Amino acid sequence: MDIAYLLKPKSQRRKEQLKPTQPLPFGQLRTDHMFLIDYEDGEWQNARIVPYEPFTISPGAIALHYGQALFEGAKAFMHPDNEIYTFRIDKNAKRLNKSAEILCMPSIDEKLQIQAIHALIDVDRLWFPIQNGASLYIRPFMFATEDSLGVHPSKSYRYAIILSPSGPYYPEGFTKPIRLLITKKFHRAVSGGTGESKAAGNYAASLRAGEFAKQFGASQVLYLDAQNKYIEEAGAMNHYHIEKDGTVVIPEFTDTVLRSITSESIIELQNSLGLKVIQKRVALDEFIGKIKSKEIIEAGGFGTAAVVSPVGEYVFEDNSILTVGDGSIGAYSRKIYEYYTGLQTGKIAAPN
Ligand code: COI
Repeated sequence: MDIAYLLKPKSQRRKEQLKPTQPLPFGQLRTDHMFLIDYEDGEWQNARIVPYEPFTISPGAIALHYGQALFEGAKAFMHPDNEIYTFRIDKNAKRLNKSAEILCMPSIDEKLQIQAIHALIDVDRLWFPIQNGASLYIRPFMFATEDSLGVHPSKSYRYAIILSPSGPYYPEGFTKPIRLLITKKFHRAVSGGTGESKAAGNYAASLRAGEFAKQFGASQVLYLDAQNKYIEEAGAMNHYHIEKDGTVVIPEFTDTVLRSITSESIIELQNSLGLKVIQKRVALDEFIGKIKSKEIIEAGGFGTAAVVSPVGEYVFEDNSILTVGDGSIGAYSRKIYEYYTGLQTGKIAAPN
């Protein structure tokens, strides 16, 4: 599809490469432009790159009332040849369409999604942040625009892409393990719901649990299934743990668990990593027992934003603490993090 370019005048665009002098926050900065395409009369039309600015949305738009909206998250990195490379965005394009199917939204051609991301990065390439650990965070999203108060799938939609030059998700970087709250109070998803999708509403529904977790000094909740038996996710990330023989265990992908592209990649990379990576249902009681008996030596979360986020301890609602290993970042988690970020930044060659 042809993309129209309605760019800012050159005098108002970035003129030199972004070289932040302070650590860049995650997700705060924007670039000069965004990509938009609208779905009207049964087809996607009017693909365009325009200045980043507020757009109008009807007060009766279905997205605002009934939350028919979704998003993706991906990253681009600068490799040693000084070129900017997106990382596995074909996977994001596919997953966006899976989310769209779950939310009764139209799919959008994967090649078009990829073309649009590349075209936008090309226009705003001077916004790539030259800073250790920084990347260009890519945020595609789609929302229902039909002005209607009836509860039904919208007839019209907008798909947009914005970019955010970003530092690491956790400002302290890969140095400080996080704490997760083990609670049976909140659930992220139930079977037959929208848990497998990146529905905006899934994240709205997680806010209360996140705020509750903070009361326990935890950054997020360890989500269990609705029967409180199995581990599902670590806040907005997939959960993992590592057994003492180095086996990495990721909870099985069911319709209540988001298929993290980081998890999928680590499963694919197991031979290169020299680690066995398996997926299975992980019962909470067994998990706790194995941490106590030191059969589980590391745990954490996998996700696009944070990459690998080791958990040092779990806290319970009575404030008791369960420490994983010695509470510091374990050697296996570090190995995964270093290998994965090495691939992303082109410092390590991708395996065949
Ligand atoms: C991810 O890491 O996959 C995310 O979606 C993070 C985002 C909610 C900031």
